[in-house]
Amino acid sequence: MGETRLAPRVAGLRPTAVNQVLREVKQVQSAGGDLVSLMRGQPDTPTPSHIVEAAHQALRAGRTGYPDNQGEPGLRRAIAERLALDHGLEYDPNQEILVTDGATLGLSTALAALIEPGDEVLVPDPIYDAYESPIRLWGGRSVAVPSSVQQGRFCFRRDALERCYRPSVRIVLLNTPWNPVGTVLTRDELQDILDFAEAHDLFVLSDEIYEKLVYDGRTHLSPAALSTEARRRCIVVNSLSKTYAMTGWRVGYCAGSAEVIAAMGLVLQQSSRGPATFVQDAAEAALRSAQSCVQRMAEEYQARRGLVLERLRDIPGVEALTPEGGLFVMVDVRRLGRSSDEVRQYLLHEAGVVVIHGAAYGAGGEGTLRVSFAAGGETLERGLDRLRNGLLRLAEAGEREAVE
Ligand SMILES: Cc1ncc(COP(=O)(O)O)c(C=O)c1O
Repeated sequence: MGETRLAPRVAGLRPTAVNQVLREVKQVQSAGGDLVSLMRGQPDTPTPSHIVEAAHQALRAGRTGYPDNQGEPGLRRAIAERLALDHGLEYDPNQEILVTDGATLGLSTALAALIEPGDEVLVPDPIYDAYESPIRLWGGRSVAVPSSVQQGRFCFRRDALERCYRPSVRIVLLNTPWNPVGTVLTRDELQDILDFAEAHDLFVLSDEIYEKLVYDGRTHLSPAALSTEARRRCIVVNSLSKTYAMTGWRVGYCAGSAEVIAAMGLVLQQSSRGPATFVQDAAEAALRSAQSCVQRMAEEYQARRGLVLERLRDIPGVEALTPEGGLFVMVDVRRLGRSSDEVRQYLLHEAGVVVIHGAAYGAGGEGTLRVSFAAGGETLERGLDRLRNGLLRLAEAGEREAVE
């Protein structure tokens, strides 16, 4: 065979920040380096045992054939009931719910169904970096909506959206609770965004995967729940990955109008038959059973968040922002006088701790580090010791340079 000719669209795709940093991590480890990772949004708690048992039972019952491509009817009903119970949102499980292989495929499927080449998607900056490539894959372009830190939290308002608007924009993409910055968008903020979407007749693609990981008594509000008009405009994307510590099970769902869900179903069946049937049964059990395990996990994460904030206190030039939700603390390191990637690399090579540089999440993330508290226990303790020591050394080096 001659030279491999790949489709030009591949050139526009990027590995996720986590995969990129993982490559470096493997190099350091294969050279004998000892690293502690505070990088991934990978809950370290096991999937609750009643969910695992439901999968076992389903397997024993022979639930191993092809699933319904829209999602097993029982799971779709359980999703609709949970959306009604948690958010007062009424969706018809027969027409308005689609089960997907995690939120990842849900997002890609929604984008495929909604945008055509040349269309643009407004995306807050900084944000989860894995939105960018699927937007490109389907011929779209993302437009970064700048956010700013106000009273210790990243936020943006309608004026920022208006400044980015042009007629080629079709979608506003939201993530609340918002990875990596930890903001839980308020009713007021969401209403502002929905008013903007309505004024320009845009879809709102709402990734709510961290909905249950909210702290200090906050509650997550789905933009779709604001009004009938909002529900019509929103495609809710969610998954069981974080809520039930099921990242490897690959099961998620989307809810939207019958027309959009039918289009997404058509797209989805070109690349997937859906999560394994027994996994869908386990997901149904997760959604239907008592939610005390979810509550316990949120409490554990809130305690871990507290530990991160405490350990990063009193480091010159470093300020940790308190996240309202999610699994990450953003740490402002601008005053260390180095780029976020330089700080990350120093921490990786000189302090033995892995975090992600904020710039990986967009220009608005420059000057910050994303520290995950998805891992707890000894990993978090050791990782935070290394992080604190590494940042202290950088701060001291910065002071010396300033004097010289
Ligand atoms: C904001 C956000 N959306 C989606 C995903 C991927 O979710 P899933 O495991 O359901 O594919 C992640 C994973 O970290 C995430 O942080």
